[in-house]
Amino acid sequence: MEGSSGIVGQDPTASGPRHAWPGTPARVLIVEDNLELISVYRRYLATEAVAIDTATTGRAALQRLAEDSPAAVLLDLRLPDMGGQEILERIRAERLPTTVIVLTGCGSIDSAVEAMRAGAYDFLAKPVDGARLRVALRNALERQSLSHLVESYRQSFERDRFRGFVGASPPMQAVYRMIERAAPSRACVFITGESGTGKEICARAIHDCSPRRDGPFIAINCGAIPRELFESELFGHTRGAFTGAVTTRAGAAQQANGGTLFLDELCEMEPAAQAKLLRFVQSGTLRKVGGERHEKVDVRLVCATNRDPLDAVARGQLREDIYYRLRVIPIHMPPLREKPDDILPIARHFLAVANREERKDFGGFSPQAAALLSGCPWPGNVRQLQNAIRTAVILNAGETVQAEMLRGVLCPADRAPAEDRAAGKSGCFEQMRMRPLREAERDLIEVALARCRGNVRRAAELLQVSPSTIYRRLKSGAQSASG
Ligand SMILES: Nc1ncnc2c1ncn2[C@@H]1O[C@H](COP(=O)(O)OP(=O)(O)OP(=O)(O)O)[C@@H](O)[C@H]1O
Ligand SMILES: [Mg+2]
Repeated sequence: MEGSSGIVGQDPTASGPRHAWPGTPARVLIVEDNLELISVYRRYLATEAVAIDTATTGRAALQRLAEDSPAAVLLDLRLPDMGGQEILERIRAERLPTTVIVLTGCGSIDSAVEAMRAGAYDFLAKPVDGARLRVALRNALERQSLSHLVESYRQSFERDRFRGFVGASPPMQAVYRMIERAAPSRACVFITGESGTGKEICARAIHDCSPRRDGPFIAINCGAIPRELFESELFGHTRGAFTGAVTTRAGAAQQANGGTLFLDELCEMEPAAQAKLLRFVQSGTLRKVGGERHEKVDVRLVCATNRDPLDAVARGQLREDIYYRLRVIPIHMPPLREKPDDILPIARHFLAVANREERKDFGGFSPQAAALLSGCPWPGNVRQLQNAIRTAVILNAGETVQAEMLRGVLCPADRAPAEDRAAGKSGCFEQMRMRPLREAERDLIEVALARCRGNVRRAAELLQVSPSTIYRRLKSGAQSASG
């Protein structure tokens, strides 16, 4: 049954190639603001085994590079929002594993030379000749694959970045390895971990490392979809299936055909919907709401939850059969407090991002600020760290982030150094009135909602949790009040 399902494969950990996929096209990023030229280059490269991505501004290019480094970049030196030189400098500063070919306007040999000095591998004068472009790109990719090989030897020891993750700690090395081993298979991956630990990045990394990387990645949040809409969201509906179904619509499962379907907050799915999901997983086919036909789809499932799934099974919230069916490859994302050595590198990463977004110029953290960050318990994990840095950057200016800038941002519970907390020395705790945690939590949620005029997403941002956490807490509050 399992092998025929098209979703749950066997042998999840069979080790595949560890880095580039033989036969997988190399990714090439074209950075050029002229759309006509982009299509000309696409045509020139139509015969090459490359997957082309494009960016029409410097900002978009930096974004792409930050997300995932393409094997090669064709870089126009003149962009509407910044010079290509700036992008080159970034690639060099962050030692991104990519080879750059610079495209220069005629007569600007000086800038080409400058670009080569800044680390470009080659340059082509505009108007670019098709044959010359292909040769330059092939050479660049050749060079890139060689340096990739060298890098992969280095990386098989230790990596400080991986597919959107920052962190070189041993628990993250284990996560990176697991993602790589799991990616080639179609077996379902079940990601667990507290809120803000990077479960969504993990799901994307699995997709991006897999042979399905050029297919769609469709994410649905099971906690945020009203129960009556769930089936049609997942499997689609036919025209007239229910009031409001004016056209036939594909659901998430069908949209993900040939790619990956990410079911986030799996434990929040209604048991009735779980039964339908199980049927889908077992048969590899779905039926739209109101439809007759069983349609086949080829989808790789990745699920995530920030709850303990076995506990959810014990409480009857997660069906045992679906749990065991989906838990073929479990990956657990460690909380930030279990990888303290990653805190500062991640903080520096977010500082760079916030500088860019807010046009600030912080060069780093003062020793006291660094100590403060390292000593925090980070109950909201990386997301909380990210928000804290961003807020501090927005509210302040200067060359160095000082401890005071962070103190204002971190909540009192986070401010107490770890030892003080353990010893219960922190003054504000001594005076605090004790009451049931869930009650305090509900009050806090209500205050946040009131402050945001009922906007759950904004309240979630304030509390640094995901919106579904709020829905869930409200739901369980309502249940315990009625029961
Ligand atoms: N190791 C990491 N390096 C860099 N950024 C990270 C890392 N881990 C998480 N993040 C960032 O932290 C934020 C939260 O991550 P993500 O949304 O993947 O968490 P999650 O586990 O899905 O949380 P939730 O359960 O609340 O949905 C994102 O902005 C993500 O980019
Ligand atoms: Mg998430």
